[in-house]
Amino acid sequence: MLDKIKILRDEVDAFDASGMEEAEAFRLRMLSKKGLIPSLFQDFKSVDPADRKEVGRQLNLLKQAATEKVNSIKARLEAEAESKQSGQKRPDLSMPANFEPIGSRHPLSVTRNRINSIFQRIGFVVSEGPEIEDDWHNFSALNFPEEHPARDMQDTFFVRKNPDIALRTHTSSVQVRVMESQKPPIRTISPGRVFRNEAISARAHCIFHQVEGLYIDQGVSFADMKQCLLYFAREMFGEETQIRLRPSFFPFTEPSAEMDVSCNICGGPGCNICKHSGWIEVMGCGMVDPNVLENCGIDSRKYTGYAFGMGIERIAMNIYQIKDLRMFFENDLRFLRQFESAI
Ligand code: DAH
Repeated sequence: MLDKIKILRDEVDAFDASGMEEAEAFRLRMLSKKGLIPSLFQDFKSVDPADRKEVGRQLNLLKQAATEKVNSIKARLEAEAESKQSGQKRPDLSMPANFEPIGSRHPLSVTRNRINSIFQRIGFVVSEGPEIEDDWHNFSALNFPEEHPARDMQDTFFVRKNPDIALRTHTSSVQVRVMESQKPPIRTISPGRVFRNEAISARAHCIFHQVEGLYIDQGVSFADMKQCLLYFAREMFGEETQIRLRPSFFPFTEPSAEMDVSCNICGGPGCNICKHSGWIEVMGCGMVDPNVLENCGIDSRKYTGYAFGMGIERIAMNIYQIKDLRMFFENDLRFLRQFESAI
């Protein structure tokens, strides 16, 4: 009997299985009701009582060893199968990435950022002011006479019919605030929203955006302004761009001018975009009127300066060839998505 046990014990100790079926077959052969080990327990009855103690001990050890062997092999095989499965779920690092859709900047933001950075590169700093303004900052300090038509109810949105408080009609109000609070030299640009009581059309809106520029120091000349604006035009519209200044009028500048740039589509000879003139109007500008300097506490005998103001929509329409201003405000995704690559 002990010999038989020893043979089976050697077999159990040496056994290993590479698959579940093999392990199960081994369990059945050794441990099932009619298996080899239970049948030895059957034979146990006929063992000599003197040997029973030792045989019984060996037999129990054999059963225990076989059970443990089968359990440990099965556990190992299960763990292996599981890790194989989760291995399949692990990401394949060589696969092309799954791109999450990213938003895009609004074309007006893109244009404003470009304008800002062009001027920042030559030392202008960005300043901002409130959208709800008082009469002083929007009109009076800027030398608008009392009866100037721009103050009219038809042009300006007044807040609660208070003739002193309105939505600013231009970002020139910020230059007043900057001059009141800073000492020259001043070199600033002020981007922002402006509001005018106008009918909405392809070329006009009651809300739009401007960038105001202001440079005040000793000895600043009209020639300085022209050079600065030529630099801007070439950075914005391309190296070959030409500018021209036409005499104009603004209450806050003297002399005043309108600046045109050579048409960046046809390059001069004339096309639909420039209405066959070869030129596109982009901004108003001029030397800051001494009255404005004095209104803001700057000595006009010591300091001179220039100012300019442009509409961001107008520039964006030109750069992106957008024919209808209303597209900027409709937020139609089919329109906005076209600017995904712009930064
Ligand atoms: N504020 C003017 C407007 O809204 C634009 C402008 C013109 C600003 C001439 C200036 C300037 O600073 O010098 O139409």
